[in-house]
Amino acid sequence: MTEQHISWAEPYKIKMVEPLFMTTREQRVKAMEEAGYNTFLLKSEEVYIDLLTDSGTSAMSDRQWAGMMLGDEAYAGSRNFYNLEAAIQKYYGYKHVIPTHQGRGAENLISRILIKPGDIVPGNMYFTTTKLHQEMAGGTFVDIIVDEAHDANSMFPFKGNVDLKKLEAVIKEHGAKKIPYVSIATTVNMAGGQPMSLANLKAVRELTAKYGIRIIHDMTRVAENAYMIKLLEEGQSERSTADIVKELCSLTDGATMSAKKDALVNIGGFLALNEWDVFEEARNQVVIFEGLHTYGGLAGRDMEAMAIGISESVDEDHIRARVGQVFYLGKKLMDAGIPMVKPIGTHGVFLDAKAFLPHVPQLAFPAQTLAAELYLDAGVRTMERGIVSAGRDKETGDHCYPDLELVRLTVPRRVYTQAHMDVIAESVERVYKRRNEIKGLRMTYEPKYLRFFQAKFEKL
Ligand code: F0G
Repeated sequence: MTEQHISWAEPYKIKMVEPLFMTTREQRVKAMEEAGYNTFLLKSEEVYIDLLTDSGTSAMSDRQWAGMMLGDEAYAGSRNFYNLEAAIQKYYGYKHVIPTHQGRGAENLISRILIKPGDIVPGNMYFTTTKLHQEMAGGTFVDIIVDEAHDANSMFPFKGNVDLKKLEAVIKEHGAKKIPYVSIATTVNMAGGQPMSLANLKAVRELTAKYGIRIIHDMTRVAENAYMIKLLEEGQSERSTADIVKELCSLTDGATMSAKKDALVNIGGFLALNEWDVFEEARNQVVIFEGLHTYGGLAGRDMEAMAIGISESVDEDHIRARVGQVFYLGKKLMDAGIPMVKPIGTHGVFLDAKAFLPHVPQLAFPAQTLAAELYLDAGVRTMERGIVSAGRDKETGDHCYPDLELVRLTVPRRVYTQAHMDVIAESVERVYKRRNEIKGLRMTYEPKYLRFFQAKFEKL
């Protein structure tokens, strides 16, 4: 770390710009109606600042773009695959690598290979696609995250932690044979981008080792988690983020990765494994769903950009600026008294829609409503992470009712400026001032799987 980099200021300058779309309120009202009050159904051209997701929305570096020109587009054995494999082995330490088109491709493979009907998969809070693949393979997801994670106001610094008592109770109730693996995410997206501690993962490793149970690591945002460990965990401040990333990975048996986040690419992912037998089966199945095991649905150039992105993702100056920008936005909103998940997450700020719109009942979709209102105010696109995202109970068919009803303001990496962050904060404050005038929504169309992507609503 060099002295001038103590602030979170960006360790890069802008070489190319992409114009944004400015809209009028009238245009936004029309667009939102046509999108059925679902921000996923807006056209990108109708959006000014896009905080829908940090997934695949990063700006690549000049080195990554240069890497794209070195794509070896051979069907089999592309040199870019070997570069990717080497980067994963170097920075994450896993032995065997299978590229996939994105994270859920890897989730599909590992779920089909390891989960049998009737199995139980404990995890530190669900993620939408991860849980659906576990269920489609016949498993049942059981939440073993600490209680603090479900409380938007708890200031516990490691809300991603596993509650070891909950985990041991699940193992005792069902037996280790019924648990193919424990599903561990580093930074927990649905809890508000909250990290887990190194000490906690070590304890999970110890407990699972005692029962002979694997840990499969959702490492989508592992660098952000490692950086928070460096900032907050006792005895870790002198270590590099890269070193902590590698230790986190070493405590697990395999990983699924959506490289569209941490790894700074617009498309790509992988499954990484240490066990040869599981790898062999995954290498066999990937050809059915993704493509040959040396490209897994990606172009050679995509794998090259990912290999370079992985090395950039653990760079100390990069990660400080990335998380620093999110904290800048979060602090502005917190200072303005906006209800939000605390502490501030690493990939975005999660507004607490239940507290923001206390007069809107959960069945009138407060987070969905708030996301629509934010778009109408200034053209900022955000994402619902509440009852719509939680879907329906696979046994009863009723809605799942999550404690957290959140609107995620997700910050893409290396894309927006501090002035954009100010515009966003001002817009949220304006909507908060007129919150009492805001009414809820009614769902008019509900898809069967991952309904939040395509559901439609109308104003109550
Ligand atoms: N795991 C986590 C923690 C994620 O956040 C995501 C994607 C995935 C797995 C699936 O990866 O999209 O590459 O197939 N999250 C995106 C988001 C969609 O907006 O949070 P994918």
